[in-house]
Amino acid sequence: MTITTGLQNYNMLLIGPPGAGKSMLAARLPSILPPLAPAELLDVSMVMSVAGELSGGALTDRRPFRAPHHSASMAALVGGGLRARPGEVSLAHKGVLFLDELPEFQPQVLDSLRQPIETGEVVIARANHRVTYPARFMLVAAMNPCRCGEADTPGYTCRRGPNARCKAEYQSRLSGPLLDRIDLTIQVAAVTAADLVQPAPAEGSKEVAARVAAARARQAERFAALGQPHLLTNAEAAGPLLDEITRPDAAGMTLLREAAESLRLTARGYHRVLKVARTIADLDGAETVGRRHLAEALSYRAAADRAAQAA
Ligand SMILES: Nc1ncnc2c1ncn2[C@@H]1O[C@H](COP(=O)(O)OP(=O)(O)O)[C@@H](O)[C@H]1O
Ligand SMILES: [Mg+2]
Repeated sequence: MTITTGLQNYNMLLIGPPGAGKSMLAARLPSILPPLAPAELLDVSMVMSVAGELSGGALTDRRPFRAPHHSASMAALVGGGLRARPGEVSLAHKGVLFLDELPEFQPQVLDSLRQPIETGEVVIARANHRVTYPARFMLVAAMNPCRCGEADTPGYTCRRGPNARCKAEYQSRLSGPLLDRIDLTIQVAAVTAADLVQPAPAEGSKEVAARVAAARARQAERFAALGQPHLLTNAEAAGPLLDEITRPDAAGMTLLREAAESLRLTARGYHRVLKVARTIADLDGAETVGRRHLAEALSYRAAADRAAQAA
């Protein structure tokens, strides 16, 4: 359910030891995303053309997948430089921005992501004018649990002292405000040889893509019925509209209230949980957001909040 949930424009962090398949999973994501609608295609090609990445390349309705290296500069990531070119966040507009080895990025570079994540655009200030580029991307990040990579592997002892400290040190490279913007934190366990000899799962990319598309269609329809046809996914909803579309049942509301307190959710975290729960209900074909949808949404949230508090 998680990966599918992520394909509804939520920000995702995959945590697991080297070789667990984090990079592989991320690279497969575009294959289960719906194709770009014509209006989206136009948006995406405009950015590409300003960035000079369209020359000779045919237009495609495949969603962008950008994977800048962790040595990327701020200008490369969010845009700027001499000619105020769009950065990776804008080239990933309507698609996926994959940041592998997240804690290895420079802290200032990561902080510069906060604004585009919040507003869906990037403003580049020049001496005498400002340029705005779209940047509504799905952030997918991956990291090892610690610098050695194996802190969570039973029987493993980190090279530089207690595993817990090794982990805390590495994870503290990510700021609380950035983690607060991650909707889905997923522990990716190592695969064993025994896992690989299991028969392949019955559900392949095509079937998953169909579920993703159905849930997205349900969301778009709901927004259209509420007179907001420009909104396509729950992730984009805010304010009273968000209340209107989520409104959990009584049991769900009780759970959410308790969890908000025990997890010390920020206001942003609270709203993000509600949106994710709405999407889980949509994937489930449920009209009302119930307790189990909220419980699942909270389980993806919990890890990020714990890490943020440790930082
Ligand atoms: N679930 C899996 N099924 C099949 N092969 C896998 C799986 N997970 C990992 N692998 C293999 O392990 C390799 C390393 O995976 P990778 O995505 O680079 O790991 P990570 O990014 O977590 O370090 C992959 O190229 C693939 O060959
Ligand atoms: Mg990797």
